Amino acid sequence: MHQRPQRPRRSQLAVPGSDDKKMAKAAQSRADHVFLDLEDAVAPSAKKPARQQIVTALTTLDWGHKVRCVRINDLETRYAYGDIIEVVSGARDKLDVLMIPKVKRAADVIWVDILLSQLEADLGLDRPIGIEVLIEEVEAMMRVEEIAFSSPRLEALIFGMGDYSASQGIDVRAIGGATSYPGDLWHYQRNKMVIAARAAGIDPIDGPFGNFRNEEGYREECRRALTLGCVGKWAIHPAQIEPALEIFTPDPADVARARKMDEAYAEAEAAGIGAIQVDGVLVDAASVRIQRNIVRRANLVGV
Ligand code: COA
Ligand code: MG
Repeated sequence: MHQRPQRPRRSQLAVPGSDDKKMAKAAQSRADHVFLDLEDAVAPSAKKPARQQIVTALTTLDWGHKVRCVRINDLETRYAYGDIIEVVSGARDKLDVLMIPKVKRAADVIWVDILLSQLEADLGLDRPIGIEVLIEEVEAMMRVEEIAFSSPRLEALIFGMGDYSASQGIDVRAIGGATSYPGDLWHYQRNKMVIAARAAGIDPIDGPFGNFRNEEGYREECRRALTLGCVGKWAIHPAQIEPALEIFTPDPADVARARKMDEAYAEAEAAGIGAIQVDGVLVDAASVRIQRNIVRRANLVGV
């Protein structure tokens, strides 16, 4: 099994693959990750031409260090196989990952994995293309553990609350907080998905927040997702990039403290001691694990 690449995913910008201007703007943005969409943001009549628009954008624009991703159409449509073949054949090594929407079972991911293996062999690509999947159907939520372990190419699970609401039949008034449902409407789903992603060693990501003028609402959702272990959140508009970068970047003071605890604990262990205090706080094997998560997140984004 190949080693999964570690990629920053604090802000994942959604861009319609039929819109050349927005793709050019996305290439210049500060998002860690950009996904060029062939699915819901593209009208049926524009889907086939958008494949070549995406190939042109990937092969001619300067994407810097961004993760370059394409969201294909779902596997129950007639577009999905053509999306994969045309985009991968055209973009070749200018594409890092494919995002698959509306996955329902592990076999869906395996089908994409096998098709990618054939394409990579045929095209002579030596770097495997990764996969991210949307958990946005009740079938996927029910089988999220099995999906999380379905393929060594799988790098991330994304909770897509829009389609998920439709799939579960959630009362839409609850999404804006307009019913008396207690607590966080997404607590169960986010938590369930994050647990599966962490167990499989892949990235859990929080999906879209449609009202891009409501920055405080967006920030609140980022903080909830971060608290449960998500590494980032979607941006559907450039206005959502900076808030996500800010919230999903560890605070330098927390990073400095985590590094100090980690070093102090390594010294203590070498001296045969298992529990110490650093500035009045207990540091033992469990607490140092928590601190190392912060150090890992900081190292990935250069804090
Ligand atoms: N990616 C890149 N650039 C974007 C963008 C995006 N997702 N959304 C907006 N922009 C650009 C606009 O082109 C505009 O550029 P300009 O100032 O150079 O003219 C600027 O940001 C401001 O945009 P604004 O006028 O506020 O919005 P809009 O009416 O152009 O677009 C949406 C609004 C919602 C249609 C647009 O944000 C969008 O398409 N979002 C992504 C939708 C999507 O991918 N959905 C699927 C996943 S949920
Ligand atoms: Mg969706």
